[in-house]
Amino acid sequence: MSVIRAFIAIELSQEIQQKLDEVTSLLRGDLDHVSVRWVPAENIHLTLKFLGDVSVTNLEILKKILTAEAARYAPFEISVGDLGAFPSIKRPRVVWVKVQAPNDLIQLQRSIEEGTTRLGYAREERSFSPHLTLGRVSRNADSRQANRVGEVLSVTQVGFLGAMRVPAVHLFRSDLRPSGAVYTRLYSASLKTNSGSSDLTPGR
Ligand code: 2AM
Repeated sequence: MSVIRAFIAIELSQEIQQKLDEVTSLLRGDLDHVSVRWVPAENIHLTLKFLGDVSVTNLEILKKILTAEAARYAPFEISVGDLGAFPSIKRPRVVWVKVQAPNDLIQLQRSIEEGTTRLGYAREERSFSPHLTLGRVSRNADSRQANRVGEVLSVTQVGFLGAMRVPAVHLFRSDLRPSGAVYTRLYSASLKTNSGSSDLTPGR
């Protein structure tokens, strides 16, 4: 049985990706001796649901769920800005930029969570915290390096980075390669006002 690694996410505008790239460059410059795996800007997205291993035979039903749930919400706007870290700025493992979530985004994520849970995918137990991951502190980083990340995050003010309208949600395939993750859009489901959905040619 053929299996792929997949997740559901919102894509970012080029303007926001560009701003995130600038923030990453700034942080990278301040943290050049710290082992952080920075995410290339074109790979940064707003994850709504990480599915993990998905049997290809489940893809059609996943697309149907995504189409049905997305069609319940009108396009909405998200705003991006301010730095943070999981589990905390003092003990940073994941460095992120916050996403200001309108209620519709929270509801849409919840609907997708419910739909995919009914299909048998593991429920995410952590509450949804909309964020864009910029980098992950390496497991090899010692506590001095992790502290340094925390110091830099607490003094770096990035403020508001931009806003964008969200017209669709996407199902992505993730291939983990030695050179980094490669994400491929497999399917897009439009939110309410844009009618229809489209299958996308794999590999684009
Ligand atoms: P995050 O890092 O932005 O929180 C694709 O791998 C996306 O799925 C990642 O951007 C990651 O989102 C999210 N994700 C959530 N749980 C994951 C897991 N256990 N393993 C890998 N990615 C996960």
